[in-house]
Amino acid sequence: MLTSLTLAVLAAVLPSTEALVREDGVGRLPALGWNSWNAFGCDVNATAILTAANEIVKLGLKDLGYEYVNNFGYQLLIKVVDDCWSVQNVRNSTTQRIIPDTTKFPDGISGIASQVHDLGLKIGIYSSAGETTCAGYPASLGYEQVDAAAFAEWGIDYLKYDNCGYPSSWDDKYNACIPDGTIGTNPNGTCPDLTDPAPAGYDWSKSNTSIRYDHMRDALLDQNRTILFSLCDWGNADVNTWGNETGNSWRMSGDIKAEWTRIAQIANENSFLMNYVNFWGHPDPDMLEVGNGNLTVEENRAHFALWAIMKSPLIIGTALDKISDDNLATLKNKYLIDFHQDPVVGRPAHPYKWGYNPDWTFDPSHPAEYWSGPSSTLEGTLVLMFNSEDKTATRTAVWKEIPELGGKKDSYYVIDAWSGKDLGCVHKSHSVSLKSHDVSVLVVKGSC
Ligand SMILES: *[C@@H]1O[C@H](CO)[C@@H](O)[C@H](O)[C@H]1NC(C)=O
Ligand SMILES: *[C@@H]1O[C@H](CO)[C@@H](O)[C@H](O)[C@H]1NC(C)=O
Ligand SMILES: *[C@@H]1O[C@H](CO)[C@@H](O)[C@H](O)[C@H]1NC(C)=O
Ligand SMILES: *[C@@H]1O[C@H](CO)[C@@H](O)[C@H](O)[C@H]1NC(C)=O
Ligand SMILES: *[C@@H]1O[C@H](CO)[C@@H](O)[C@H](O)[C@H]1NC(C)=O
Ligand SMILES: *[C@@H]1O[C@H](CO)[C@@H](O)[C@H](O)[C@H]1NC(C)=O
Ligand SMILES: *[C@@H]1O[C@H](CO)[C@@H](O)[C@H](O)[C@H]1NC(C)=O
Repeated sequence: MLTSLTLAVLAAVLPSTEALVREDGVGRLPALGWNSWNAFGCDVNATAILTAANEIVKLGLKDLGYEYVNNFGYQLLIKVVDDCWSVQNVRNSTTQRIIPDTTKFPDGISGIASQVHDLGLKIGIYSSAGETTCAGYPASLGYEQVDAAAFAEWGIDYLKYDNCGYPSSWDDKYNACIPDGTIGTNPNGTCPDLTDPAPAGYDWSKSNTSIRYDHMRDALLDQNRTILFSLCDWGNADVNTWGNETGNSWRMSGDIKAEWTRIAQIANENSFLMNYVNFWGHPDPDMLEVGNGNLTVEENRAHFALWAIMKSPLIIGTALDKISDDNLATLKNKYLIDFHQDPVVGRPAHPYKWGYNPDWTFDPSHPAEYWSGPSSTLEGTLVLMFNSEDKTATRTAVWKEIPELGGKKDSYYVIDAWSGKDLGCVHKSHSVSLKSHDVSVLVVKGSC
């Protein structure tokens, strides 16, 4: 007889939802990879993908964390083919499958997949929870099983799933507030002008948007292959409340641009979502722009460091055969990657003080400037200080203010994560002069 105790035990053991928890550990930690979109847009082909894949190996990016090969997911480096990989306007009339464009990919997607696998890397692909992708190619709404089976058969390891091209019959009944300037928002992150807001307590996991993504999750789970599921609904339908039961990561905002103002806006927005970050599910502030546009060395560094400590997917988006030494060093920062890929601590860093603004201020130009988080890999506390201003300024980390340090001791051993320099035993606080939009990253070890 099933007693209530047995039922209670079963309930505790079985996941209550179909979270994408996989036996092989894929998706437990935030992804590390490269995607063609920010660098090449629609002009993607096998040559561009293989060049990037070879550079990932040659530049040592693949080897980052190789020593932790036993920890699930640590060595995962994914190469993603974004939009525009298929033939437009038509599916195969026999199989109903999307047809790979053989002028761009002469050996098809399975051909490029096996070449990428031969380099010890994994490969990603792109589709949309609609009838067409954002660039107007066939997408997967209504064809989830067909497409998931094709992806699995081709050897795909990762799916970025966009939000373009769905018919109005799939519209949500209500609108959700996205503090992103997209619908009815204002600069302070509220949506006073939102039309058709949901009633209080509305369950967005029952929305049509959520259901469109559930269909693909279920189709992926039906395949005999692990495919990491990266949702891209641009923060719609309050995705932070259901993303974790649907995918391994979910975009929490509209698209990034290689411009500091946009990077700061998204960082500010994501800084309020840190309670949604843990093993198996990660809000995604979009792919890295490190190396693109006119971002300064400092801005590239701050962008990467903030994304890493928020445990966002770190998907490189630049042409790796042209990357500068400074930016490559940023992408390879061992302390930040170690913090990001912590196999024991799932939570990210949190802001402990806003600095420029009073605490909890929503300011798209001045995100929180003081962050900290515990780390098993660094055997200490990571502390980040950031200058959001347009001029050089001093920032000071005061040990007594940092929650992880418990306010007990006066002095700690400290390492500077950019230079790797041992700063020795530091008394009470550490001040740095930071250029506009630069960050300092410290590893605070034991007391001394
Ligand atoms: C492949 O794509 C790259 C990047 O967009 C482009 O420079 C190159 O000309 C393309 N090659 C072919 C053969 O289309
Ligand atoms: C459609 O699929 C069939 C069966 O796999 C294949 O023989 C045919 O070449 C495909 N057609 C196109 C246009 O890809
Ligand atoms: C989903 O779309 C259908 C058809 O347009 C609509 O009737 C229904 O109210 C929508 N459901 C939700 C939960 O928004
Ligand atoms: C947010 O900004 C709007 C103007 O854009 C203002 O009307 C509103 O009072 C502000 N709300 C808060 C909570 O500051
Ligand atoms: C699933 O895939 C594994 C590894 O590729 C293979 O050994 C196994 O036979 C497959 N199982 C089914 C039911 O296809
Ligand atoms: C997301 O789901 C996983 C698996 O059920 C769970 O371990 C994790 O704590 C969840 N994340 C959050 C932020 O609750
Ligand atoms: C960088 O580009 C942005 C947008 O194109 C522009 O507003 C900004 O002034 C540029 N910054 C520099 C330093 O050139």
